[in-house]
Amino acid sequence: MKPLPGFRDFLPDDCAFRNAIFATWREVCRRYGFVEWDGPVLEPTELYQKKSGPEIVGQLFNFTDKGGREVALRPELTPTLARVVAANERGFRKPLKWFSIPQCFRYEKQQRGRLREHFQLNCDLIGDDSLGTDVELVALLIDLLRGFGFIADDFVVRLSDRTFWTDLFTAENVPNERWTELLQVIDKSEREPREKTAAQLGDLAKPVFEVLAGGGRSEKLEQLVEQLSQRDLARFVKIDLSIVRGLAYYTGVVFEAFDRKGELRAIAGGGRYDKLIAQLSDNAVSLPAVGFAMGDVVLGELIKNVPAAFEKLAERVTRQSSLDLYVVIAKEERRGEAMRQLQQLRDAGWRVDYASAVTKVGKQFQTAESLGAKATLLYGDEWPQLKLKTLATRGETLVPHEKIAAYLQARAGELRGA
Ligand code: HAM
Repeated sequence: MKPLPGFRDFLPDDCAFRNAIFATWREVCRRYGFVEWDGPVLEPTELYQKKSGPEIVGQLFNFTDKGGREVALRPELTPTLARVVAANERGFRKPLKWFSIPQCFRYEKQQRGRLREHFQLNCDLIGDDSLGTDVELVALLIDLLRGFGFIADDFVVRLSDRTFWTDLFTAENVPNERWTELLQVIDKSEREPREKTAAQLGDLAKPVFEVLAGGGRSEKLEQLVEQLSQRDLARFVKIDLSIVRGLAYYTGVVFEAFDRKGELRAIAGGGRYDKLIAQLSDNAVSLPAVGFAMGDVVLGELIKNVPAAFEKLAERVTRQSSLDLYVVIAKEERRGEAMRQLQQLRDAGWRVDYASAVTKVGKQFQTAESLGAKATLLYGDEWPQLKLKTLATRGETLVPHEKIAAYLQARAGELRGA
């Protein structure tokens, strides 16, 4: 039996890798004053049918539940966020700076960088429509990637603005009803043959291709870059009006992060969505918002491709998962004492393991090494002293058993750093 196509098993090493990604995400988000929240995995299908746009609706994992409700596993978090904020915003000071790490589900064709489930860091800033908030979000996206050890040679955030395109449509007298469809065509233009895009654009092909060839200018985006340069972050971004994003609800600045070599799918994407909360509010709440999401799949691939990032994450994995102590029982008559001590050490916060079955001493030391324990604590001939051995240095000390907790406590930094 295998997992379903596009679904992953997370064996302990995979889980450790994933958790180290989550830990980096959380750390950087907190540096920016973001707080964590979450919503339900299952939502009414209607929430996405109305708000996410045709592309994502075609990828829903949806079914009728036993109560006859049409429901879907969340393909993204933004509609849930808009619903939750519309219903609860009164209890919070604005702007809200919220992040979340949902698992999302999309019935996509499985390919490199695209699965049927993925984890997604979502960061959203709600209740402020100034350009400064777009700058703050793009800066956060850059710093999240820098938090993994990536540099400007590794990734780029491509910045665009949907209002640039809607202004162009207005100038060309395109009726409002066609805007969404045209934005989708422009969004796909990079991946489609030029003739196909030209046919879909009709009369608009000429002005659109001119812009896509670099002929457009956006003052708003230039200001955004200028403000990023005040933070010395401009080298991580590029204005690129070909980005319009597939989701229906964006209303202004949009952006996507890519690996610099352009080998992988988007690492992250987002933008401003000033109307979505009002559309999902039962009581006329209207709040501007800007946000983005970064998936774990493409990010994981890029980490594996960039040695500095991989080493940084591996260090975090080791820090998160390594064992402090392994209790080695050489004299079975001391097992009771050893268990009492082990319990006290665990109560004090030490990560301690041992062999629950009677095991040869050599084997116990081998297990300690393979688990990456920092030190072993031997219950042997030295009793009532214990032999503490630091595995990295092979240094040994005898410590009276009743003093071991205090002894370890006094040397916690040294031992854990070893
Ligand atoms: P999105 O561009 O659909 O945006 O997804 C964001 C990121 O999630 C992508 O850049 C990609 O890394 C990852 N991702 C999406 N689908 C898959 C998949 N099938 N397999 C693996 N990774 C995937 C949104 O979801 C918006 N709701 C983001 C947002 C938040 N906008 C405002 N706030």
